[in-house]
Amino acid sequence: MNSTIFRPSRAVIIGTGAVGTTTAYTLLLRKRVAEIVLIDINHDKAVGEALDMNHGLPFVGGVKVWAGDYSDCEGADIIIVTAGASQKPGETRIDLLKKNAAIFDEIVQNITKYNQDGILLIATNPVDILSYVTLKVSGFPANRVIGSGTLLDSARYRYLLGKHKHIDPRSIHAHIVGEHGDSEVPVWSLANVAGIGLEIDEEDKQKIYDSTKNAAYEIINAKGATFYAIALALDRIVTAIMQNESAVLNVSTLLQDYNGVSDVYLGVPCVVDRTGVREILNLPLNEEETILFHKSANKLKSEIASLYS
Ligand code: LAC
Repeated sequence: MNSTIFRPSRAVIIGTGAVGTTTAYTLLLRKRVAEIVLIDINHDKAVGEALDMNHGLPFVGGVKVWAGDYSDCEGADIIIVTAGASQKPGETRIDLLKKNAAIFDEIVQNITKYNQDGILLIATNPVDILSYVTLKVSGFPANRVIGSGTLLDSARYRYLLGKHKHIDPRSIHAHIVGEHGDSEVPVWSLANVAGIGLEIDEEDKQKIYDSTKNAAYEIINAKGATFYAIALALDRIVTAIMQNESAVLNVSTLLQDYNGVSDVYLGVPCVVDRTGVREILNLPLNEEETILFHKSANKLKSEIASLYS
């Protein structure tokens, strides 16, 4: 009798800073996977974080958490990369590019030494460019290299629109596309509640967009880092993958001839299932949104060019 070997679902999180540990804790509380492995260059930190989470298992149960090494990537379903420097007050995400790109070669090569068929989920900033770097270094197909993209930005946008309209943000359908960063694009023309367009005056639109775009700066100035909402966004992506949902999420993916944009990772609505990005949905951007989308793409393409020059 051939015994099929049962392999527990596993997420590996590389980087046990605020984003990595909050993501691990979120996945634990919601039991998204059977095993969570924490990897950090500071192994003692990973050990401490795993210990602290394990001591809560009598209240949660059902998930194994440990501090591991890259060999634990073998057989992992999803490998989430959060390692690297995070924004300090006054720093843009692009300011992090050189120092974070410098560590990605080693991180990605260490992963692919043990795992060739998992899904790589990138959260380290600048996430769109580092997702592109991961695609190049890993040699994985683009559908299995996903950036957190503008999923968090779109959540912030929906929250602010919901606050403005006194409607549950889950009932607000609105997209931020492009760079997860200062050139992100609000798709006002398609924002809706129950298919009904949103009537918002220009002044309020500008306020809502500025608050969306600048949210991270505001939070970093107030408390030093962001981690709760990005962890929930990563949890949302992990759930769509692990439960084969075919959910539409604004993750960062490789675009080819998307509204005339090619060879760059940007946040756009994608169908996410167990294969990763199954399909990219073509938003019918209006003329102004298309111009802004191209600006966002060109900004990142020039940063990528300078990285590889
Ligand atoms: C933020 C980080 C994740 O926007 O870039 O909070």
